[in-house]
Amino acid sequence: MDAQGEVGAGMIEAAAVNGRVGSVGAGALETGRGLPPRLAEVPGFVAFMGTGWGQPDRAASLAPGAAAAAATHRARLSAALPDETVVVRAGTAPMRSNDSAYDFRADSDFVWLAGASIEDAVLAMTPAAGGHDAVLYIPPPALPGVPEFFADAAHGELWVGPVPGMAEWSAALDLPVRPLAQLPEEVGSAAPDDEAVLRRVLAELRMVKDAWEIEQLRQAVDDTVSGFAAVLAEVPRAMTGPGERWLQGTFDRHARTVGNGPGYASIVGGGHHAPTLHWVRCDGPVTDGELLLLDMGVETHTLYTADVTRTFPVSGRFSEAQRQVHDLVERSHRAGLAAVGPGREFTDFHHASMEVIATGLHDWGLLPVSVDEALAPTGQHHRRWLVCGIGHHLGLDVHDCAQSRPEAYDGARMRPGMVLTVEPGLYFHAHDELVPPELRGLGVRIEDDLLVTPTGAEVLSSALPLDAPGLEAWMAQTVPG
Ligand code: GLY
Ligand code: MN
Ligand code: MN
Repeated sequence: MDAQGEVGAGMIEAAAVNGRVGSVGAGALETGRGLPPRLAEVPGFVAFMGTGWGQPDRAASLAPGAAAAAATHRARLSAALPDETVVVRAGTAPMRSNDSAYDFRADSDFVWLAGASIEDAVLAMTPAAGGHDAVLYIPPPALPGVPEFFADAAHGELWVGPVPGMAEWSAALDLPVRPLAQLPEEVGSAAPDDEAVLRRVLAELRMVKDAWEIEQLRQAVDDTVSGFAAVLAEVPRAMTGPGERWLQGTFDRHARTVGNGPGYASIVGGGHHAPTLHWVRCDGPVTDGELLLLDMGVETHTLYTADVTRTFPVSGRFSEAQRQVHDLVERSHRAGLAAVGPGREFTDFHHASMEVIATGLHDWGLLPVSVDEALAPTGQHHRRWLVCGIGHHLGLDVHDCAQSRPEAYDGARMRPGMVLTVEPGLYFHAHDELVPPELRGLGVRIEDDLLVTPTGAEVLSSALPLDAPGLEAWMAQTVPG
């Protein structure tokens, strides 16, 4: 059934509520004596629907530590903006078509500050003695006793199932919770200029993860590693026809089963799709003898994501040309890993990885200039085969903290608690006439997730092999017969 009534019912009864169309299923009321009235206006029905309901379980389900972590985050924001009123919205699921919405996933700043993903909710923090007072405003669920209970497809409990109400969220989050309708009179609304500053301040605060966040990211990475194994186990099936789609579906189902879902659109690039940096179409074949680039991340129930890439030979053995490319990317990767640590410039690992790539391409005779000329800011010829950066911050967002000022991101030094990716690659497109035929159509990326520690860096995704022999051995164990 769609939100406009049963197909073929002949009668449609709809109520627009909050921009969405609700329905009460007109088919059941069809009398053959003209249009039925709106059910929400039928006194007998409304009174009847208001009685006789027990209490379903509406408790908020929250990961241990989520509320306490959010309280700490609010305290950090309060200290950063002592005199400002702060308003952060969770957002609304975007509409896909007509009254069908995409899945809801709250704004990451909201999650960081509130500790949960609650559609349409707003967190307000107003300056008070010694910090800020925080109040969460939510649309109260439509429960028995109001017409929206059965007539509002977006919020009615008969449509969306039981959800926590104000009392339940207040208990779970240890915050006062009030009806959303009270927000304008109690807080007003933040001006757009303020919003940009707030986004920037939050992005920079979110850059250093606390112990609870690091625990979430470890979980995301561990669940992603098991997802890689689940995908490899399906390679034989993918090769029989369903191809990249089957592997994408395998990872996404795994991510949905162990966490909230994939943290970004999974990239499954078989053969000449591997060089396409964001190959999210995932609609090609998986063919013996070719490479298979997998860039995938599980998002935990707490909404922290991993971002990991490995490139496998579909046959289980790298060809000579594939191995040559993989070995160069591996050397670049190891150089990048070695350049991550506290006090290092954030761009150090980028330069370390790029230098190896430029040198390797020069040795292969692909660069039209010297290595030094290529690495110079005015050259960058090697980037033809690696146009993206070598890594980024990771957290609630796959490209975390992107609203930071350049001087706080690329221009900053690494601090313990930062989590970032290192992900060099080489991407030789099938129609690139400047590379020898044996390299055309090959794409390799190696992407790990790292935690900056007080003494160096920990590779969170080190359970996956890095080098070609290790990947072959892992495939031999993981891919059936
Ligand atoms: N998967 C996107 C990235 O690696 O940044
Ligand atoms: Mn990635
Ligand atoms: Mn990445």
